Amino acid sequence: MLIEWLLIPFAYLLGSVSSAVIVSRALGLPDPRQEGSKNPGATNVLRLGGKQAAILTLLGDASKGLVPLLIAKSVGASPPLMAAVGFAAFVGHLYPVFFQFKGGKGVATALGVLLGFAWPVGVMALLTWLGVAALFRFSSLAALAAAVLAPVYVWFWLGSAELVVSTMFMSTLLVYRHKSNIERLLKGEETRLGARRP
Ligand code: G3P
Repeated sequence: MLIEWLLIPFAYLLGSVSSAVIVSRALGLPDPRQEGSKNPGATNVLRLGGKQAAILTLLGDASKGLVPLLIAKSVGASPPLMAAVGFAAFVGHLYPVFFQFKGGKGVATALGVLLGFAWPVGVMALLTWLGVAALFRFSSLAALAAAVLAPVYVWFWLGSAELVVSTMFMSTLLVYRHKSNIERLLKGEETRLGARRP
């Protein structure tokens, strides 16, 4: 049905809602776009406001990826539509229409999208993040590792070319948005999880 394709703009608009900004405002925390790494994401909210605020941000951002895909699945969407809906939610987070197109780096929203593609794929990406984060204590490095492996997980579990391509686009944009983190990692200046940015 043609109306199913309206899920693409819906996903983009939902992705454009910044959980980090909303949670920070609601809890009276500093604006994550102005403080810390200046990234409106769960890691920076963790830095600025602690675990509870970060978990709320993570759940909000992941839901932006997951919910449109659950709706898409419930109406029997085809793999190309699923691929487009997931990518639209992710792009909404990175380039939000409600925040002058200045968004976050997409890690939690990508996790929600992968969970929506197939929950084992999301779990594998999450385990990758947790493993690398536990070993090295860098949120950014953990996200980069999960992003590089995510297309492999999608191919292994789903074998859908459309979903693999969508995931590859997400991973490429995610790596691009982490360019300042990559520079800091290479210089040995990246902030570790649990530490406050100097
Ligand atoms: O979720 C984004 C994370 O990978 C890096 O965040 O605030 O350290 O730039 P941040």
